[in-house]
Amino acid sequence: RQLPPHVFVLFGATGDLAHRKLYPALFQLHRKGLLPDGVSILGTARTEFTHDAFRDEVHKALQSFVKEDISDNDWKGFAQRIYYIQGNVDNVEDFKKINQFVRELEQKRDHGGNRLFYLSMAPRFFAETALNLKASGLSDTKGWRRLIIEKPFGHDYESAAELNDQLGTAFEEDEIYRIDHYLGKEMVQNIEVIRFANSMFQPLWDNRSIQSIQITSSETVGVEERASYYEKSGALRDMVQNHMLQMVMMTAMEPPSRLHTEAIRDEKVKVLRSLRRYDVDEVKNHVIRGQYTAGQMNGKSVPGYLEEPGVAENSTTETFVAARLFIDNFRWAGVPFYIRTGKRMPVKSTEIVVQFRDMPKHLYFNQNGQLGPNLLVIRINPVEGMYMQMNVKRPGTENVVVPIAMEFSQSTDKSPEAYERLLHDAMIGDSTFFTRWDEVSLAWKFVDPIAQAFSEDKAPLHHYASGEWGPQASADLVREQGGIWWPVY
Ligand code: BG6
Repeated sequence: RQLPPHVFVLFGATGDLAHRKLYPALFQLHRKGLLPDGVSILGTARTEFTHDAFRDEVHKALQSFVKEDISDNDWKGFAQRIYYIQGNVDNVEDFKKINQFVRELEQKRDHGGNRLFYLSMAPRFFAETALNLKASGLSDTKGWRRLIIEKPFGHDYESAAELNDQLGTAFEEDEIYRIDHYLGKEMVQNIEVIRFANSMFQPLWDNRSIQSIQITSSETVGVEERASYYEKSGALRDMVQNHMLQMVMMTAMEPPSRLHTEAIRDEKVKVLRSLRRYDVDEVKNHVIRGQYTAGQMNGKSVPGYLEEPGVAENSTTETFVAARLFIDNFRWAGVPFYIRTGKRMPVKSTEIVVQFRDMPKHLYFNQNGQLGPNLLVIRINPVEGMYMQMNVKRPGTENVVVPIAMEFSQSTDKSPEAYERLLHDAMIGDSTFFTRWDEVSLAWKFVDPIAQAFSEDKAPLHHYASGEWGPQASADLVREQGGIWWPVY
């Protein structure tokens, strides 16, 4: 079904995210015939471009970041939607200029007066941009208006609340679409389906049957060119406050009363309300922070974090976090949720491992006289799928048990990219897979004492060589309760 007509105004149109993710996503929506004629894309940024020079930029971005070949026909159709107006976000006159241009566009094609603003720029400009959208009249329109805002949403609870108040002077909560791109991933959305469309999991999904849950999101890349941002954020703010907690919520939430945006978001928020908060002195008992040192990745030597360009020579920024979380409600009381995320780890992978409890008594054993648990593994990235690890008899032996995997995987080629899904949803006005203010605020309230413990050195900074699965302390954290980190593929 075609999306509603609107003018899509992109702030930060010359930025990295726009090139890598947003133009390819918009192009795919166009190519699939989902964008009606009345959708125009207006880029704006500080650099001067003519419309045509900007179209060339977008074309280059598509050539670099779209996997398939781009036909002339598709490109021509797409290029016709694209415009550019130079502007500084601190200058309200520039916003008026944009407003004027949008009005002209609206007269040429029927956009229904609908305007979708996307803030894809350095976060320090978010609030000012929203205020100027209002002051210039650009956000005053007879159709709908929506604001999509990139992460990070604040640096801690206080700054997030301030930003939220500033956005609130120009937009209503239901007009604000806060991006967490993990929510646009096919398999993250599938967690709910796997849980709520399969009766076999429903009676098992609680503390009576589940021993622990592990969520890993590992990356092979280091800090790359992003030190100026990463030095201030670290893995805690970059990955845990948003993506990791989102996956915890999806795994732990109660079934919603119906598949309605607010019903789903209400259940997710309840998970955060039950999430045990650690005070600054408790953090060291449950949270491990690490920083990569030099090491070997795929046979190549790579530098340590402190040697990376733009990183302070005595930086204590964490590039790895592992933590043990507890959700203190009836369903999950006593079940540890282990999360870990880090850069320069051996593989790029995101997986959720649900470990079921052991049998009450073991009758069968493997060669080593043990019996492994049943696991349900939800694979989010790079492979999309899931598998269940079960125990069966090895043929030809006398009751020697071996683990087997019952596996399902789907081709990632067919799954739309996260940004394509999220743009699509924002265009139709579905905010289910965007984060609501109460989610963001509770996530910060959980993270803030941890960040404070890190900055006051109340949790030791461990080191791990590039190419390892984080520091030893991370393995020890899981071992305290007799577990291991299940291998990730
Ligand atoms: C981003 C972080 O939000 O997520 C990056 O800022 C990280 O540091 C990225 O690399 C990981 O996303 P994905 O989709 O590649 O797992």
